[in-house]
Amino acid sequence: MSIIDDIKAKLDIVDVVSGYVALQKAGRNFKAPCPFHTEKTPSFIVNPERQSWHCFGACATGGDILSFVMRHDKTDFGETLRKLAKRAGVELAPKGQPGKSDALYRVNEAAAAYYQKVLEASSGAAARRYLDERGVNDEMRSVFKLGLSPDSRDALKTYLADQGFELDVAVQSGLVIRADDGYTRDFFWGRLMFPIFDRQGRVAGFGGRTLTGGEPKYINTASTPVFDKRGTLYALHLAADSIRSRDTGVIVEGYMDAIAAHQHGFTNVVASMGTALTESQVSQLKSLAKNFVLALDPDAAGQEATFRSLEASWHAIGRQDAAMTHRRVGALHRRDAVKLRIAALPPGQDPDVLVRRDPKEWELRIAEAVPLMDYLIPTIAGRYDLTIDEGKAQAVEVLAPLITAPENPFEQGRYRDKLASVLGIGADALTPILKQFQPSDQARRDRGVRRTERGTMPSGLGADRKVSVEEYAIALLLHRPDLKERAHTFPPEFFHQSEHREVFTLWLACPTIDALKQSLDTSLQGHVDHLVGIELKSADRRESEAALEQCLWRLEVRHWQELQEGLLADSTGDALSRELEAAITPVNARLKELFAQRA
Ligand code: UTP
Ligand code: MN
Repeated sequence: MSIIDDIKAKLDIVDVVSGYVALQKAGRNFKAPCPFHTEKTPSFIVNPERQSWHCFGACATGGDILSFVMRHDKTDFGETLRKLAKRAGVELAPKGQPGKSDALYRVNEAAAAYYQKVLEASSGAAARRYLDERGVNDEMRSVFKLGLSPDSRDALKTYLADQGFELDVAVQSGLVIRADDGYTRDFFWGRLMFPIFDRQGRVAGFGGRTLTGGEPKYINTASTPVFDKRGTLYALHLAADSIRSRDTGVIVEGYMDAIAAHQHGFTNVVASMGTALTESQVSQLKSLAKNFVLALDPDAAGQEATFRSLEASWHAIGRQDAAMTHRRVGALHRRDAVKLRIAALPPGQDPDVLVRRDPKEWELRIAEAVPLMDYLIPTIAGRYDLTIDEGKAQAVEVLAPLITAPENPFEQGRYRDKLASVLGIGADALTPILKQFQPSDQARRDRGVRRTERGTMPSGLGADRKVSVEEYAIALLLHRPDLKERAHTFPPEFFHQSEHREVFTLWLACPTIDALKQSLDTSLQGHVDHLVGIELKSADRRESEAALEQCLWRLEVRHWQELQEGLLADSTGDALSRELEAAITPVNARLKELFAQRA
């Protein structure tokens, strides 16, 4: 039994939920008005046998004891687990990774402290002056542990050796590099050092800025077992609480931008470190809040690269919500989407400059940020000559796929009207043109549940009774990353155990199992090993794909069946109430569809 199972076994969901919500007994279940949305008639049910909860109303979601507390307290998986472990009297292994990673964090901390000392020493005078000129105060210097790497081949290497760190560890951390001839030397020389912290505030890597105007402006630690720049957000460890409590996060590009924002009290700001938001970054943000503002470097606006990166971020943000809409079952499947807005800054002023020069103006620009598509439509269209038909056609060609993409089904009308007005044509004229860009129903279906023939499943599925379908599905995905694409459209909520939901969601955003383990709470790292260790019948891609389809099919069927059961348990007489009927009809229809696929 895993530690998570142990915690769950020692707690009763009815007890825990009762601490938050006044539950009423209703048959074998308990009932209350849903704590996650406002309603008059109770549609929130706790099932003590399954130790599960469900909202049959507007949320149309459910899960186990962990997901309830996570959602209610808005805490992440690790925090929630620790809270419940305490309540259950179960001892969790202390935070922090055992073994190798531990050594890497320690060497990083030692290096950060060393660089700090160098900055504060007499040799750091010029660098300190530079920070002063850029308006970075002492407090930020210490909060962000800013430092200076000496202008020397091996000052750090020697220091680390003196501190008792093995050369191998220093090399693995990326702080010391080994040339082809075997000679080792420091990676960072004479640069202003920005330690890059992970979510827990541990130093995972570094960025180093030139102080002499050399190129490149910044160099960063290469990927290591504890650092992947693309999976990290600068200042997230400081900003997380603030993002959560304001339900809004602000994303800037640069180290200096984030520092300036924090210095001026804008504590919900993180930096993407110069790249388009990756899915891994997005999924970390999504777990904290629903509203995000991208503060766009004004000079970048309108550039092709910026446009591409916005498009990528937007797809990453929209994907899981889109997955929900694909499988929408009436109102039952509505889900709070993440909203990404764009703040365009005044020309020539990146966030760092604007925040320092005029914090009020910065605040205003953030408040006035516009939804991404409202930004993209005029910006992109403006790049074509809209006075001629040719230009209009080109603008439509670029924008239509964005407008008709499934990420924003409810807003298509508004975007269409907006584009029509930018182009100076009637919305009616645009409708049939956009239709050509609409993904066909078939394409949608292909992306959704693919038909799977009976009998093609490896019969190994379920042979080992101790492996649940949830576990098997994830094990398959861990073994075959090439199947992940298919899983992107699968709503994580169909996994009912929070630990699987967590692993599943993060795995889709992580390039490697190592990266996955790094992003997961430490309590789940062992679970990943367990999942990786599940023995699968060796099968070719087609067979694995079929096995995955079967798992996903089962998970979805189970999800709707439980909802259906819950709804029916609620009906008192023989005639269903109108609300109940409205809720249950789409569920029945979806189940019928699912069974038809297997007929
Ligand atoms: P910026 O050039 O906007 O950085 O690049 P900045 O932090 O505002 O730096 P200042 O104001 O010129 O001092 C944005 C981010 O892109 C990454 C860094 O993370 C940087 O903070 N970057 C930029 C690199 O990794 N390498 C580069 O050569 C340039
Ligand atoms: Mn800058």
